[in-house]
Order: sequence, then structure tokens, then C-alpha cells
Amino acid sequence: MGKESPFRGDIVKGKVALITGGGSGIGFEISTQLGKHGACVAIMGRRKPVLDSAVSTLASLGIPAVGFEGDVRSQDDAKRVVESTFRHFGRLDILINAAAGNFLVSPEDLSPNGFRTVMNIDSVGTFTMCHEALKYLKKGGPGRGSSGGGTILNISATLHYTASWYQIHVSAAKAAVDAVTRNLALEWGTDYDIRVNGIAPGPIGDTPGMSKLVPPEIDSKARDYMPLYRIGETWDIAMAALYLASDAGKFVNGTTLIVDGGLWLSRPRHLPKEAVKQLSRAVEKRSRDAPVGVPKSKL
Ligand code: COA
Repeated sequence: MGKESPFRGDIVKGKVALITGGGSGIGFEISTQLGKHGACVAIMGRRKPVLDSAVSTLASLGIPAVGFEGDVRSQDDAKRVVESTFRHFGRLDILINAAAGNFLVSPEDLSPNGFRTVMNIDSVGTFTMCHEALKYLKKGGPGRGSSGGGTILNISATLHYTASWYQIHVSAAKAAVDAVTRNLALEWGTDYDIRVNGIAPGPIGDTPGMSKLVPPEIDSKARDYMPLYRIGETWDIAMAALYLASDAGKFVNGTTLIVDGGLWLSRPRHLPKEAVKQLSRAVEKRSRDAPVGVPKSKL
């Protein structure tokens, strides 16, 4: 994506970022933008061909990048990838948990193992990565010199703010991710000078999530209900990530920034605007003019 950034090109200069799920979709755009703004980038994923192609794209942009195969569900993989990142770049400043699993299914058709699988990737995987990265992110950790603690960003969702059809597993998993974000922000902010935040993207075009979860015909209808009348871009999420991961967000801790154009607030309009203009004044006038003691329901 060639869109210009509103940020200075060096806002994360000298930082080292590890991005899970960094080979595709939102994770890849975050990796690209962190790299374009000065960071060295390590990406973690399960599929070697995806990682290889992502790393060569990053390298072609002049970004120091490396890929490590691994599954966030495995504590051994998490430990190995965090350590390899440290060995490769000499420090770790930014951990982005973008790896996620999703599929649409009714609760009655979802096996407990299917539920557990998504919990394991999104919630337990996020915690596991944070747990393994703590040693390097905390103030005074290896490679940190006199710099303070690092920062963590967890990619979440808005599904669980209300309820979402066919996504009970992901809603539960992302609710847990948000709890991890807040609890670590409190405890690791206090004890280790690590800021922990999240981003809750709405539907974002050109991502595996979008193509898996929103068939094109539904997609075009859904646009009618979106406050900003458009699907987001991976760039929108990457800009939010830059804000939170850089010093621009140095006093932001424990928040999950919603980046969905206001979609989660959206409700179908129940009355046309013109009808409201006419009705509302008329109703007020009638209730002002009514004799005292007449119940409003009788007006
Ligand atoms: N509907 C219902 N259940 C499903 C399902 C579907 N579409 N896909 C998988 N499951 C169930 C399986 O049946 C299995 O449960 P069971 O053992 O009781 O039968 C369980 O989930 C695990 O499936 P499996 O295919 O073995 O897991 P996996 O580790 O190979 O894959 C997924 C994990 C299922 C989350 C897979 O979709 C994935 O790898 N996703 C990563 C990419 C992604 O989703 N990106 C979008 C991010 S928004």
C-alpha cells in the first residue's frame, strides 16, 4: 500500500518489533509500517512460504526483517521465537500479538475443541507471547541499556462489546485478550515500565479475516449500516499501531483503541431524519399545551 504516513519516518527508529501473524493481513501491514518508520522487524507465523514471501517484501523496502516459524499455541515456539529475535537484533522493544484464528459457526455446531482452539490461539497465545517476552521488554532487561520498558499491543475485536452471530468462540477469546491487556497494563506498567494496549479493528479489506468471514454480497449490504460508509484498510490499523507503539502514545496504557469507523455503535435508523424534525417539535408542543393532569399517553 503506497499511502503516505502522517508520522515522521523515524518515530520507531532503533526499536525492534516482533509481530505474531506478521506474514499476512493486518499483521503484515503493521510490520511494514513499523519498518518504514525505522524499526527492525521479526515476524512469526506457522506457514513458511507466507513468512518467506513477507520477509522478502519487507527486505525489498529496505526494512531489516527476519521470519521465524512458530505457533503461538506452543510455549516452546513462543520462547524460541522471542529468544531468536533477541539474538538476531540484540533487543526487543515492541511485541504485537496479531495472530488469530476464526471461522463462522453456530454455537450448537461448534465442538468444545473448536471453541478451545480459538481460545488457545487468541487468548492463551497472546498471554504466552507476553509471558515469554517479559524478560526482554522489562525496564533493565537484556539489551535495553538505559531505555525504559518496552510495549505490547494486542489485536482484539469489537465482537464481544455486544454479541455477534456465529462468533461465540472469537467473542469469548477477544474478551479474554482485552482482560489480558488491562491486567498487564496495571501490573507490568507498575512493576516493569511496560505499556500494554490493544487495537480493536472493524472489518478490514484485503485480510484473511474479511475473506473468511464476510461473503462479498453481505459485504456490500453491510456498507449501508456503517457510520463512515466504508470498510477499513490495513493501513488504518497500522497507523493506530504506530501511535500506540511509539512515543506519541507514551502515556497511553491499558486501553483498547477501537478502529472501526464507529461501526460497533451503529444501529439501523428507525425514523427518517425529516420525520424526526416534524414529529419531535409537534410532540413537545402538544405536551406543553396539554392541560395539567392529562397523562401524556392520552395526548
Ligand atoms: N466450523 C466448525 N468447527 C471448525 C471449523 C469450522 N469452520 N474449523 C475448524 N473447526 C473445529 C474443528 O472441527 C476442530 O474441532 P474437533 O476436533 O472437535 O473436530 C477444531 O476446530 C480445530 O480444528 P483444526 O482444523 O484441527 O485446527 P487448526 O489448528 O488446524 O486450525 C483454525 C485452526 C481452525 C482456527 C484455522 O481456521 C486457522 O488456522 N486459522 C488461522 C487463520 C485465520 O483464521 N485467520 C483469520 C483471522 S480473523
